[in-house]
Amino acid sequence: MPLRPIHLLGSPILRKRSDEVETINEDVRTLVQDLFDTMYAAEGIGLAANQVGVARRVAVVDAEDDPRLVLINPVVLEREGTTREEEGCLSIPDIFGDVNRAEQIVLETTNLDGKRERFELKELTARAVQHEIDHLDGVLFLDHLSPLKRQMLLKKWKKLRKGETGYLKEVSPASTAG
Ligand code: NI
Repeated sequence: MPLRPIHLLGSPILRKRSDEVETINEDVRTLVQDLFDTMYAAEGIGLAANQVGVARRVAVVDAEDDPRLVLINPVVLEREGTTREEEGCLSIPDIFGDVNRAEQIVLETTNLDGKRERFELKELTARAVQHEIDHLDGVLFLDHLSPLKRQMLLKKWKKLRKGETGYLKEVSPASTAG
């Protein structure tokens, strides 16, 4: 169960468009498993491959009561409604902002058997999927905020990062103490 370090805001890979996955092989299966393990250890509800330094269109989501999702070359086919809620990101710890997202989506994604599947999703799971697909396009939730709000949060981020160097955060196994 190898946990992978998470790339933080400032790491160039977070701003790159990730490449399509051509075949589902052992590398992809291992990547998906590591993404789940790392996401649970970091107590997130979604994690994209470029956040662990792999520029491929792979992500995982596990939110609320919905079954956990493996996203491989995911696309949103339909969007309905708009909802505004607070979001955060494992690559920008301790920074939060309100983001508009489609309330309901139809997702199409490849599963680990290499088959395309469709899911109708809503609420938190739909939001998390949209956030993760953004990651695969090099987009962060900060990009959806007003310039003023973004500037404010970036200032806070710089303050929090004061004295720290590098853009990798090691993830430790989830503490049993809760
Ligand atoms: Ni994120």
